[in-house]
Amino acid sequence: MSMKKLLCLMLLSSSLSAFSVNEHVLTVSPKKIGAPIPSTLYGIFFEDINFAADGGLYGELVKNRSFEFPDHFMGWNIFGNVKLNSDGPFDKNPHYVRLGYSGHNDKHSGLENEGYFGIGYNKNNLYRFSVWARVPEGGSATLHVMFCDPNNRNGNQQIAETDVVVEGKEWKKYSVEIRATRTVDKGSLRVVLRKESNVVDLEHISLFPVDTWKGHENGMRKDLAQALADLHPGVFRFPGGCIVEGTDLATRYQWKNSVGPVENRPLNENRWHYTFENRFFPDYFQSYGLGFFEYFQLCEEIGASPLPVVSVGLACQFQNHSEEAHQPIGELQPYIDDVLDLIEFANGNPDKNRWAKLRADMGHPAPFNLKYVAIGNEQWGQTYIDHLKPFVEQVRKKYPNIKIVGTAGPNSEGADFEFLWPEMRKIGADLVDEHFYRPESWFLQSGNRYDNYDRKGPKVFAGEYACHGKGKGWNHFEAALMEAAFLTGVERNADVVEMATYAPLFAHVDGWQWRPDMIWYDNLRSYKTCSWWIQSLFSNNKGTNVISCILDNNKPAAGNNGQDGLFASSVIDKVTKSVIVKIVNTNDSKQTIKLNVNGYLKNKIKAVVTTFQSDSLDGENTLDEPNKYVPVTTQQEFPSNSFTISVPAKSFVMYELKQQ
Ligand code: AHR
Repeated sequence: MSMKKLLCLMLLSSSLSAFSVNEHVLTVSPKKIGAPIPSTLYGIFFEDINFAADGGLYGELVKNRSFEFPDHFMGWNIFGNVKLNSDGPFDKNPHYVRLGYSGHNDKHSGLENEGYFGIGYNKNNLYRFSVWARVPEGGSATLHVMFCDPNNRNGNQQIAETDVVVEGKEWKKYSVEIRATRTVDKGSLRVVLRKESNVVDLEHISLFPVDTWKGHENGMRKDLAQALADLHPGVFRFPGGCIVEGTDLATRYQWKNSVGPVENRPLNENRWHYTFENRFFPDYFQSYGLGFFEYFQLCEEIGASPLPVVSVGLACQFQNHSEEAHQPIGELQPYIDDVLDLIEFANGNPDKNRWAKLRADMGHPAPFNLKYVAIGNEQWGQTYIDHLKPFVEQVRKKYPNIKIVGTAGPNSEGADFEFLWPEMRKIGADLVDEHFYRPESWFLQSGNRYDNYDRKGPKVFAGEYACHGKGKGWNHFEAALMEAAFLTGVERNADVVEMATYAPLFAHVDGWQWRPDMIWYDNLRSYKTCSWWIQSLFSNNKGTNVISCILDNNKPAAGNNGQDGLFASSVIDKVTKSVIVKIVNTNDSKQTIKLNVNGYLKNKIKAVVTTFQSDSLDGENTLDEPNKYVPVTTQQEFPSNSFTISVPAKSFVMYELKQQ
């Protein structure tokens, strides 16, 4: 070949490749209908970390309401004549307080609760105060109950008040609704014995907003539960996470302690109170007020399949390195019974099983339709397999339809992961739970993670994932964009991935131990992060079936960082008769894409186009600007089923296409 010809060819090929940098072809083929999208594909994972339960989703505003914290008055200021007793009416929470005359008419006896980083009161909202009380010597005693703003040093601290009259020697529950007259985010609750009253005993001092999620008395904070419902999650994994395992076996989560009357659910420690020396919360415990009944009920109300996680008899392996810390294999039966009884609690016949009867007594005679149970959280090694085996055998024998979720350990790859996957196959787990808290680079390279997974083995549960990016913030836009890139791969591989859940879910701005998190809040406000929006876009637009999706003659994300930074997935929704195409552009430049919809939709297409982008990759929503970064939707029409679109740099776009 002459030098001139070679030069011409080089020029031509370089101009062609320059052209191909920004001009891509994405062909989706709705006629090639693929795997059904599992209803569980996009879900949520709840753990009591970052004050997610007490101080968060659980509506209780009083901390240490039963005086069972090891420091029995933690969270309380006491004044006057206040004594602690331990022969109360609830055997698992035996402590209570006795208020008596202080010896001086102007010296009050009472106590004040500081709540969780204060108590949030909203002006004009109603709150339900309740207390178990008695007058030990008989007669009556009057309590002055006040909502206060203790930080109002120069004015009247009281923002609402009422009297509660306690009568008689028997323990009784007293309940009263009080309306707040001011909005205060760090208020307190004061209970003072009125002058000339008899001595009074008080136990389980509680305060809830009346307007809880679905109005339940032992209910959940409405804005937070609503943020979960808005995701329309297909699955709800609870109650952890590491707290399932416990720092030692004695402190593992025991679901049986979390059901029955709330007054008699024993306190458990919360390992997140001491896990990080630089984020130390000595007042962090688990009241179990938000227990397994409440979790199951919430699942039902938000349409999510419950996925409880139970202890496999291994205390947290990060914190315990010797076999002595764990339950010996031959002594696992009580742990296995806990799983069998849990299945009965959820699904059993109240006439035949005492746990099912308890469910009915708690107000839910119908079964909760439990289909999955996860055994162990982030366990690893042969010891996990040896512990898991007897659980699998007994659950399979008694409940062959329950799907068992095993784990691939704490890492997304590496020796433990490589060991555990084949073991999960051998043991016959239905799903394997994979966890990944990883940087941007990992997410960029993992858009094709599931393309070559074995289709015959257990399904995948991407049970804890979050991009821990290097942006200035934590829940910044770019991290969410990386998660979107990853989720396109989850969606395209919905035949092998059955569930995916971001982690952690909740965080109190004053009480977090771990970030990023999906939903943040203080005592009165909350906001949804960009990661919440991404999860919501996938979850609310998951369609019914995967359809073929080819980007420049390849499966999308065929390259290491997508193709030219592009990631894509497509589904059909047979119910709404729409084709939904999701595209993530992680590139710094905008990209032009010729979108071909092969068959199914003919000419004249109407489209709902959703775009999620940010003026800054470090941008994030905050309590003060909760809606700074939200997806924007427009309508468009296209004359044919082949049209060119422009995808902004660093953005997520979604086309929902229908016949006009
Ligand atoms: O989500 C926070 C923690 O991360 C979970 O408790 C645990 O499973 C993982 O290590």
